[in-house]
Amino acid sequence: MLVSKDIRLVPLEENHLDDIMRDWNTPEMRKFLGGYIPHTREHEREWIESVQIEMKKRSSFVFAIEQLPKDKFIGTIALHNIDWLSRSCTMGIAIHNEENWGIGFGTQAIELLIEFGWKSLNLRRIELSVHEFNERAKHVYEKLGFVEYGKAHGKYYIDGEYVNSYYLELIRASEK
Ligand SMILES: CC(C)(COP(=O)(O)OP(=O)(O)OC[C@H]1O[C@@H](n2cnc3c(N)ncnc32)[C@H](O)[C@@H]1OP(=O)(O)O)[C@@H](O)C(=O)NCCC(=O)NCCS
Repeated sequence: MLVSKDIRLVPLEENHLDDIMRDWNTPEMRKFLGGYIPHTREHEREWIESVQIEMKKRSSFVFAIEQLPKDKFIGTIALHNIDWLSRSCTMGIAIHNEENWGIGFGTQAIELLIEFGWKSLNLRRIELSVHEFNERAKHVYEKLGFVEYGKAHGKYYIDGEYVNSYYLELIRASEK
């Protein structure tokens, strides 16, 4: 298990479905991700099932973020699209309820995931994208060493507007 001071990461499973439906399926939350299209419970259940298959194939690793000491579900974090030849992948994170933002959970979760990527999976590069308006997320990524390498113009249509996104990457120190 991956554990830090306040949180732990455990593989995402079907028992997390109720928690996901409660706080993730809202416009306030999803504007920071791809945008808001409502998902049904069945849709999310199928997604969790597909995650199990991807984890088995080792093309993605998706974790629930749980707050210690009661192991309360607060969000998800993942490495996706793992390319084992180039040892590169994409990262995503969402802490689902804004009450849990700004407390340090996201930073801790990303630190654990990076450590897992380098030391357990022997990856060398993690990339991600973040919307221009999501200054909190960009700050956290840059604080942890991610570097901006590009910008997509109006890539997403969110809440009535075309939104720019930045691309960031993190290269493992020993591979630079
Ligand atoms: C982005 C996210 C993962 C960050 O996790 P978090 O637990 O809220 O972040 P932390 O508490 O660890 O750190 C927040 C940092 O951002 C800073 N911050 C807060 N609001 C900010 C703002 N508007 N602009 C810049 N920095 C900001 C804080 O000061 C803190 O910085 P510090 O550690 O240097 O003091 C989380 O807020 C989240 O899931 N948001 C909704 C979904 C999302 O945006 N996902 C990412 C999509 S790319």
